This record gives sequence, structure tokens and C-alpha cells, in this order.
Amino acid sequence: MIIKKITINNFKNISFAEIEPTEKINIINGQNAQGKTNLLESVWLFTGMKSFRGSKDAELIKFGQEKCKLQLNFLSEGIEKQAEIIISEKKEVFLNQKKLKNGSDIAGEFNAVVFNPNDLLIISGSPKERRKFLDICIGQIYPKYINVLKEYTRAVKQRNNLLKESIKDSTLEFLIEDFEKIIILQGKKIIDYRIKYLNLLKEEAIKIYDGISGNKEILKIEYLSSVFENFEKELILARKTDKFKGITSVGPHRDDIIFKINGQNAKEFSSQGQKRSIALSLKLAEAKILEKITGDSPVILLDDVLSELDKNRRNFILNEISNKQVFISCCEEDNFKELKNGKIFEVKEGCIEKCICI
Ligand SMILES: Nc1ncnc2c1ncn2[C@@H]1O[C@H](COP(=O)(O)OP(=O)(O)OP(=O)(O)O)[C@@H](O)[C@H]1O
Ligand SMILES: [Mg+2]
Repeated sequence: MIIKKITINNFKNISFAEIEPTEKINIINGQNAQGKTNLLESVWLFTGMKSFRGSKDAELIKFGQEKCKLQLNFLSEGIEKQAEIIISEKKEVFLNQKKLKNGSDIAGEFNAVVFNPNDLLIISGSPKERRKFLDICIGQIYPKYINVLKEYTRAVKQRNNLLKESIKDSTLEFLIEDFEKIIILQGKKIIDYRIKYLNLLKEEAIKIYDGISGNKEILKIEYLSSVFENFEKELILARKTDKFKGITSVGPHRDDIIFKINGQNAKEFSSQGQKRSIALSLKLAEAKILEKITGDSPVILLDDVLSELDKNRRNFILNEISNKQVFISCCEEDNFKELKNGKIFEVKEGCIEKCICI
């Protein structure tokens, strides 16, 4: 996947911008609040996903304007394509000048992986953040997984409600059993999908982390399941205590992923730079898996990734990510002085001030 040209009209603080990026590293440089993340966000929207910073469609239009228009010229498996997104009161998406029935139909046409500072929560946040990361990755390559997850979550909610009500009305017990059957059936599938995907991710992320840390640190990743041996038995056994708390204490919705650096749990013991390096390794590993499955490497969008990294780690990101088009936003020139081959776009007040080739 290679972007040839991005054209932006009235998107957030960007009135007009047109850039022709290189196939390798593109630095989006500028001071705070100039429009760097906005530019990355505009590219991300072509994946058909929601904004990675949670902006609603109406918030994407430049203040005081009625519509915004984004155009992307890109190569997908060597074929030239053009996509267009127009947002006014409604959102319209076009692929090769043909209007798509639903905006989300663009999904799969253009692939990208984004890293933004919130992704640090994958390491330092609650287990929910780690499960969310894994579930989104899996859903991207196995769309059936999304329904399995939905059915499971619904059944857990129903069980929790019935558990609470059954304290007063014991005749509800048999209904609880019905939902437990769904929880066990779908829950086992979720655990299988997650372990299968995590094994793929682990293999790639460990290699990438090794490169980022200059072969000095070893990353380990483990799936920590709340189910020990027999999901069915453990769920039924937990019913008595679950009833009083109104929760389901066993199942993949309680699982976690553990990251360790040189044997120490990263959430508790790692430095900011190490956490950033793990999160980045996960994102690059996600891209590698997408590439293996779709046969085309996704575009990599890295928002503010270089800060807090030392010279060697920055050098890896700027010069060792091969065969992928990368966009990196940055607000310190010092942070990309190791760049050997790429383009630097200077952003000021929502405009591309200049472009330098290196
Ligand atoms: N709909 C909008 N219309 C006009 N301006 C907007 C709109 N939405 C956001 N902005 C402005 O866009 C500006 C640039 O935001 P952006 O997040 O891209 O900055 P940035 O260059 O990434 O800065 P930082 O280095 O701090 O991350 C912000 O000042 C914000 O107020
Ligand atoms: Mg930013």
C-alpha cells in the first residue's frame, strides 16, 4: 500500500494541503497545535474506521465551513486507486469516482496501522485496554470474530442481570444455565482466536523489540486466562459467589495479556521509553501480520512516537522499518536528525510550509 498523493480541503485546521509523500519515511514536523495529527487522522479515515482520536464526523469539518473533502491517490497491490471522502451533513465515500453505498464499504481497500500516544495504555492501562487492542486486531482479519464477541458479551450481561434477580426469584436458575451455555460456547472460541492471534503477534513483536532495543532487552508476551482448566466447571462453580456480586468472574472478558522485559512485568517496572517501544513493536507486528494475510503492507502512521526514545531507538524507527510507507509526526528537529532517506513536511497553522527531501 503506497500513498501517492493526499489532498485535504477544510479538514479541522487544514484549509488546503496537498502532499506527495515518498514511499519510505515521511516526517510531518511542526510546533504544537499546527495540524500534524490532523493530517495523519485524515489519512486514517480512508481505512473506513472511526477517527483514532474519537472525533465525530461533524467535528472534522473546519470551523465556519460547510463541508470537508479528502482525496487519496494510492497504489494497492500495484494498482492505482483513488478514494474520496466528502463530509457535510452526511458522509459520502467514493472509490475510483464511484459512490459507495455505505461509507464503511471502503474498509479493506486502503489499509493502515496507527500508533498514537493513547496506545501506551495497552501497556500501562487496565486489562480492558489490552483485550480491546487484541480484539480489534483479530476482528480486522477475522470479521466473524466480531459476532462471536458480540454474542458472548450479550450473554454475560444477561447472566449478570439474571444472577441479581435470582436472589429474589430462584425459578430463574434454569434461564441462567441457558446463557451459560452460550458463554461457554462463544467464550471458548474467543480464547482460541486470541491465543492463535497472540502467537502470531508475539513472534513478530519480539523480533521488532529486539531491533528497537539494539538486542539488549528481551520482550516476552503471555496470555493470562481467568479460566484455569475447565471453563464449564469453573463457571458453574463460580455461580454461588457471582450471584452476590452480580458479575461473571470467569471467562475471556476477565483475561489479560502480560508483557515482560528481561523477566520483569512491564506494566509495573518498565520505563516510559520501554513502554513506548513495546507499544510500537505491537503496532509494527500488527502491520506485519496484515501484510502476511493480505499480501500488501499497510501504511504506518506514527503520531508523536519519537519523543522519549533515545538515539538508537529513534535510529531504528527512522531507518530500519523496511518495505513500508511510514508517516511520523514530530515537533523537535533533533528527533529526526538520524533520518537517512525520506521527506520532511513542515506544517504551520494548518498549511504545508515546505517539503525537504533527504
Ligand atoms: N473542526 C476544527 N476546525 C478548526 N480547527 C480545529 C478543528 N478541530 C481541531 N482544530 C484545531 O486543530 C489544531 C491542530 O491540531 P493537531 O492535533 O493536529 O495539532 P498537532 O500539530 O498534532 O499538535 P501537537 O504537537 O500538540 O500534537 C488544534 O489547535 C485544534 O484546536
Ligand atoms: Mg499531535
